[in-house]
Amino acid sequence: MLDYDPFDYALHDDPYATYRRLRDEAPVFHNRKFDFWALSRYDDCLAAVRNFGVFSSAQGTTLEPIKAEVPTLINADPPIHTKMRHLIAGMFTPAKVAVLEESVRELARELLAPHRDSGRIDIITDFAAKLPMAIICRLLGFPKADEDMLRGLTDAVVHRDEGVFEMPDEGMHASYALYGYFAEDMKRRAGAAPRDDIIATLMAAEAAGDLTHEEVLGYIFILSIAGNETTTKLIGNMIYQLHRHPDQLAILRAEPDLLPSAIEETMRFDGPTQMMARTTTRDVDLHGRTIPAGAKVALLFTCANRDDRKYDRAEIYDVRRNPRDHLGFGGGLHACLGAALARLEARVAMEELLAMMGRFAVDESALQRMHSPQVRGFTHVPVEFGGAA
Ligand code: HEM
Repeated sequence: MLDYDPFDYALHDDPYATYRRLRDEAPVFHNRKFDFWALSRYDDCLAAVRNFGVFSSAQGTTLEPIKAEVPTLINADPPIHTKMRHLIAGMFTPAKVAVLEESVRELARELLAPHRDSGRIDIITDFAAKLPMAIICRLLGFPKADEDMLRGLTDAVVHRDEGVFEMPDEGMHASYALYGYFAEDMKRRAGAAPRDDIIATLMAAEAAGDLTHEEVLGYIFILSIAGNETTTKLIGNMIYQLHRHPDQLAILRAEPDLLPSAIEETMRFDGPTQMMARTTTRDVDLHGRTIPAGAKVALLFTCANRDDRKYDRAEIYDVRRNPRDHLGFGGGLHACLGAALARLEARVAMEELLAMMGRFAVDESALQRMHSPQVRGFTHVPVEFGGAA
């Protein structure tokens, strides 16, 4: 029998056979155990993210019921969403993030330096888990000394125990700890000289009455979560896919200008954000089924990205494909605010890694996967490297 249970660890190992069956046999799937629905085809997911009036984010974008009462950017519909996004969207355009390239590269080299002569590196713990957190901490103005602690807390927020629907207690505690940290930071800023950065902009919006204090905290929360885990996992997934597809790695080595295309292809083929949820505001008739009003609906982005109704040879990893219209960064009005930053970080990270490693092999026996219904990626990607590529 066809089942889709995003809390099942076995699914995390390889969801793609299940995804294919969902697209082909049950494009509108109902999970009875947890009482949610799932859309798996590209056109249906794209239509849903565009139709925010019917597929609302206001009840949260996770499958479990939303606990916070404060609207965050990602959990808001227009007009609240429009107001919130407009405040800092201009700080994340490709042109604005391009100026960060040198500091991203410097940081990447700093992180790689201790491993250069060792011939071994854990792509995640030694490198990819540190880079995005360091960059987002810089953008938010948090001290370097707090990076590891903040990363531990954000990891705990996204982790789910096997078969458990709710956020575990550690996740709740971690959320409170993060909110407490952000509130303290804002207090310190209130008594100091004004700065010109994201949090200063949000605090100015609070002072002008455009955001509440809680909304500012929620905003910082979502920025620190969204920009961390996902980019880490993208880098790990990409190293893994290139290891599994030596022919594609050879193409990339021969034509390094294909790197941005290869990043888009990794996002499409094995992206970190497997799905985001919505809640229906009315009954929806689709493919002969009726999703009732008030239902949770999982939009299976990575599944949709392998839909052969959309992409030719969709199950093939092809670094030349450059599929810029994949749903790995979502779509519609909630399309990833940090996509340009993620693309920049991934490109610089891969340039530096590939240059350092030359020939490399992932130690598959020591790979470890993280378990989350939404985020796909590894907690450990040990690699041995050395010699000309
Ligand atoms: C939204 C994926 C990196 C900030 C989203 C969404 C996806 C996504 C799928 C849409 C959510 C929805 O439709 O409900 C990713 C992936 C990343 C990444 C795969 C890395 C590879 C980043 C970074 C930031 C960021 C670096 C840093 C600022 C956000 C924010 C939203 C968002 C704030 C909410 C936008 C809104 O609701 O208007 N991301 N993201 N993301 N992302 Fe990213």
